[in-house]
Amino acid sequence: MERYAEQTRQEYEGWDEFFNRPVDEKLDFFRLNGRIFDLIYAQQFDRAFLDYLCQLAEQIRLLARTKVGQRKLRDLLPHKRAMLYFVQPSTRTFLSFINACHTLGMGVSEIRSTSTSSEVKGESPEDTIRTFASYVDLIISRHREAGFAEKTAWVLNQTERPVPVINGGSGPDQHPTQALLDIYTLEREFRNIGGLDGKKIAMVGDLKRGRTVRSLSYLMKNYRDITLYFVAPKVFRMKDDIKGFLDKHGIAYRETEDFESVMPLLDGIYMTRIQNEYSEHPATEEETYPDFHFKRKHLSMIQPHCAILHPLPRRYEIEICVDKDPRAAYWRQERCGMWIRAALIAYIFKVDSVIADEFS
Ligand code: NCD
Repeated sequence: MERYAEQTRQEYEGWDEFFNRPVDEKLDFFRLNGRIFDLIYAQQFDRAFLDYLCQLAEQIRLLARTKVGQRKLRDLLPHKRAMLYFVQPSTRTFLSFINACHTLGMGVSEIRSTSTSSEVKGESPEDTIRTFASYVDLIISRHREAGFAEKTAWVLNQTERPVPVINGGSGPDQHPTQALLDIYTLEREFRNIGGLDGKKIAMVGDLKRGRTVRSLSYLMKNYRDITLYFVAPKVFRMKDDIKGFLDKHGIAYRETEDFESVMPLLDGIYMTRIQNEYSEHPATEEETYPDFHFKRKHLSMIQPHCAILHPLPRRYEIEICVDKDPRAAYWRQERCGMWIRAALIAYIFKVDSVIADEFS
């Protein structure tokens, strides 16, 4: 309970009151002794931290190339265990987190469906959360409910074991570690042309319900002279909360439905799929919006250095033949996720300096 001053705890009387506060007002809650403790919102990152984490991911990646380096990494956290509570479908986020934990020598346990946990016996989410914390030192959660990871952090803070919580996807709201890996990928793809600063990036597809583009938009405030192009069908336009945030931070953005008209301007294209699992009638939402797909013919319309990203899974938004083009960065992006998540976990458990020392 060293974590929060008495006054802070009294201020936040109930969960609803806390949850409904503006995010900016509660960012301190997720910190301990000047460091990020729980990772719930993309707004928690600043530029120095992002640069640091990208560098750390690069160092982990280098160490992991050799047997000796892998041993050193595995020696960092053999005394820690993580719980992956992923009750919404996931392939990449789940696998990259679990492999990031293995890289650092951690033990892991998992629950992938509420139907196999005691919630079906009527246990409250609060008690379920406390139970996780009894066995592990870190909770990584993916949930259909926007506030679940945050509630986990809030509930645990009132207990004897306030272990850190990482948001691995909170409904249609946020996916901060995806945004981290997207930034890491963009910085790497642009490493020979000055990094992400000054670049023009399009986000394409379901911007309304896509949590990846929402979190990535928040992170853009940390980069200089960025121009965003929101390319979406009218029904899936970026929501006002994100546009308000960009306005407040002076980040230029344009909205358009004409993908081809902006293609030649772009340094990066971030494709997304239609998030019809959030539709009230998912089975009947069959429109594929072909004007918002990236096709073979587009390869000749984009710049030679333009990076094409996608958080994946892909359906039909990017033609398969595009994969062969060196500008298709999405398979590299997927792998970046494992390294940056390992970097984040190393930071949370304060073994990041041990890694950096290997390179000094
Ligand atoms: C994304 C997600 O779950 O939000 N996938 C991922 O984490 N790589 C994107 C998506 O499902 O469309």
